[in-house]
Amino acid sequence: MASTVDVKVRRVPAAWVLKVTMAVTGLLWAAFVLIHLYGNTKVFFGAESFNGYAHWLRHALYPLFPEGAVLWAFRIVLVISLVLHVASATILWSRGRAAGGRPSRAALIARFRGGRRSLQAISARLMPFTGVMILAFVIIHVLDLTTGTRPIATAEFGGHETAYENLVASFSRPWMAAFYVLMMLLIALHVFHGIRTAAQDLGAMGYRLRLVAVWVAGLASLAIVLGNALIPLAVQMGILT
Ligand code: HEM
Repeated sequence: MASTVDVKVRRVPAAWVLKVTMAVTGLLWAAFVLIHLYGNTKVFFGAESFNGYAHWLRHALYPLFPEGAVLWAFRIVLVISLVLHVASATILWSRGRAAGGRPSRAALIARFRGGRRSLQAISARLMPFTGVMILAFVIIHVLDLTTGTRPIATAEFGGHETAYENLVASFSRPWMAAFYVLMMLLIALHVFHGIRTAAQDLGAMGYRLRLVAVWVAGLASLAIVLGNALIPLAVQMGILT
């Protein structure tokens, strides 16, 4: 007679390792986006202020470190974080699907009818979609404003010393301005759910800590939308020229 034997499969890497990796690398990127947002606001103080900031980025801690060294150190950390974040997300997502973790249509409708049509539920559900969109955005954004690669960048792209002029030329294209505004909304949704989940995965289980995480996530998302989306809109309205 055939006997059934329970075999426990130990997955490598373990789910908690993937979740902590996602939390740490996601928080690093969220911190970068907020620091980058602060730098971007210099655009409202004129070309000299913004170009001066772009110049400073390449000369930070010079001559203690060679020109561009600090910027390259940041770039390497960001790229490694991005690869680890996307890889962990993909493994967790595919494991969830293999385990039949995808809720049925009926279950989803029931959940929505049950009052979970909140921003929290929507942002959670859209994480894979917003994640893939952000990946595409980062590639397009770097080609547009850092490397100046045509046809994403404009013909007016003039290198790093003219960061302000490059930005205005790019956002003068209505479709590009609309793309940036839409992307800021998607990034805000991703960051909103990401910060809350990261806090939980790093051990913030108590009610107070979770409440703090919701506030931090909400304020960070709001700042990303209001601060960043205002820039392409200001170019389209002729405020930044
Ligand atoms: C409207 C919003 C944004 C504006 C106006 C903006 C502006 C810029 C500009 C002007 C540069 C080029 C800096 C230089 O080469 O001197 C840049 C680089 C970059 N931005 Fe943004 N950015 C925005 C949003 C974002 C967001 C949301 C992310 C991340 C999700 C991001 C990620 C990057 C990255 C990775 C670089 C390349 C940095 C480097 O290696 O030099 N940006 N951005």
